[in-house]
Amino acid sequence: MYQKVLAASVLAVLTAAPAFAAVSGATLFKQHCAFCHPDGGNIMNKNKTLHKKDLNRDGIKDWKGVVAKMRNPGPGMTRYDAKAITDPQAKAIGEYVIKTFK
Ligand code: HEC
Repeated sequence: MYQKVLAASVLAVLTAAPAFAAVSGATLFKQHCAFCHPDGGNIMNKNKTLHKKDLNRDGIKDWKGVVAKMRNPGPGMTRYDAKAITDPQAKAIGEYVIKTFK
């Protein structure tokens, strides 16, 4: 009986993990990025939104491109090193940006 309960809770944690990662990308984006990029826009430079057309024009094709921008941004954007936003967090934000803003 005890073992069964334990197994069930381990399973619950495992199956909850991917959903949690998705939530955390969205949450991290809200915390760090949405101030300047509400709805994937850009309040400082309207030509540099997070929508696919602009990203592709600037050679940002996947989450790695978004992370590269966070690590080495252009004029006006805050720089986020691995202390401010860890690599796994940065990946989650990058994946969120690519899948959310078409
Ligand atoms: C203080 C305002 C500000 C914050 C906060 C900010 N950005 Fe930016 N972002 C900018 C500006 C200004 C640019 C245009 C300059 C450039 O290309 O770096 C930009 C550009 C970008 C681009 C390139 C867009 C394009 O079309 O080429 C990406 C991707 C991006 N930001 C992602 C993020 C992410 C992810 C975060 C949060 C971790 C974030 N930004 C936080 C201001 C901000």
